[in-house]
Amino acid sequence: MESKTKHYYIDSSINTRGFGSQKIARIAFYMKVTMSAPGKIALFGEHAVVWGQPAIVSAIDRRVHVTVEGRTDSMIKISAMDLHVPGVVLTFQEGNKAPVIETDYGRIVNAVAYVRKAIDVCRKHLSLSADKGANVTIHSEMPVGAGLGTSAAVSVATLAAYTRLMGHELRPEELARLGHITELEVQGAASPMDTAITTHGGILYIRPTKPDPYIETVGVPVALPAIIGYTERESSTAEMLRRVKDLRNSNPRVIDSIMSSIGEVVESAKAALISGDLFTVGKLMNINHGLLESLGVSSKRLNDMVYSTRFAGAIGSKITGAGGGGCIIALCPGKEAEVSTAIRIAGGMPIQSRLSKTGLKLESLEQ
Ligand code: MEV
Repeated sequence: MESKTKHYYIDSSINTRGFGSQKIARIAFYMKVTMSAPGKIALFGEHAVVWGQPAIVSAIDRRVHVTVEGRTDSMIKISAMDLHVPGVVLTFQEGNKAPVIETDYGRIVNAVAYVRKAIDVCRKHLSLSADKGANVTIHSEMPVGAGLGTSAAVSVATLAAYTRLMGHELRPEELARLGHITELEVQGAASPMDTAITTHGGILYIRPTKPDPYIETVGVPVALPAIIGYTERESSTAEMLRRVKDLRNSNPRVIDSIMSSIGEVVESAKAALISGDLFTVGKLMNINHGLLESLGVSSKRLNDMVYSTRFAGAIGSKITGAGGGGCIIALCPGKEAEVSTAIRIAGGMPIQSRLSKTGLKLESLEQ
C-alpha cells in the first residue's frame, strides 16, 4: 500500500433539495472548530428500519473528530489523515469540474463525499454563499466504511462544525435531520438511525416516522459486554441497500414479511433489554442474524465470525450495520477473551469498544 499523501480533484456540482425554514441561533464567529461524534452498533433492526420498521442502536466509545478551519478563499480542502489507511488529501474548488480520479482509496473518497455533501446541505439550509472556504480535517478512531456508522458521524460532525464556523448553532434534532438528508443524498437511501444515534448517543429505540423519527432512550439495567468483529468490507452501504431494494422489488410479499418479522424481533428485544434479560437478548440477536441473512446481506466471512463466536460462548451474535463484509457484534458476558480469539481465528479483527452515552460533542473552539 502506498503511504504518500495524494491530491485529488473532485467534481463539486451540487444537487441538494430545498428545506423548510428553520429557527437559527446566531453565535460568535469562530475560526477553527472541532466536533466529535461517536460510531454505533446496530443492536437490532438494520435494513428493516429503512423500510419503516423500528430499530435499536447504541453509540460506542470510538469517535470521529472533524476540525473545520476558515480560509480566506473559496476552496474546500478535505484532509482525511487517520482513517486506518495511509494519509490522503483531497482538494476541490467551487466551479472546478475536473473528474474524480479513480483510486484504491474508494472508502476514503466515499468518506469525503459525505463531508462535501454535508457542506452543501449546510450552505443550502443556512442560505450561505459558496465563497467562504474551509479546511476540513477528519480523524477516525475506527475503520471507515466498516458498518460502524462513520459516514453518519462524519456527516453530523461536519455539519455541526461548519455551521459553528459560519456563526450559527443548530439544535441537535436539526443536525440529525440534516445529517440524514446528507446520507440520503450520498447513498440514495438511508434511515434516520445512524444520524440520530451519532447526534444523541446512548441506546435508542428508533421508529422512522415522518416528518420526524420517533426516538426513545432504552434504559438497560445491566452491562452489555459485547465484542465487535471486523472484516474487510466487500460492498458499500449504498450497494447493500440497493441489493435489498432489488430483492424486495422482485419478491415484495416475502421480503415485507421478513421486514415485519425483524420489527417483531426489535419489539421483543426492547422489552428484554429493559428487563436486563441478556439470554433473551442473545437469542433474539441470533434470530435477527438469520433474518438478515435471508435478505442476502451476510457473507461467508461474516457468517464464519458469527458462528465461531457462538461456538466460543457468545450468547448471541449477528451482523451489525449494512453487511456485505464489515462488522458483527457478539454478546458474550464472561467470554470476551475466548470470543476475541474466535474472531481472529475466523479471519476477523476484534475491536474492543464500550457502549457510550456521549453523542455529538464540541471539542474545541479557537478564534
Ligand atoms: C447502516 O448502518 C444501517 C442500515 O439500516 C442503513 C440505514 O439505516 O440507513 C443498513
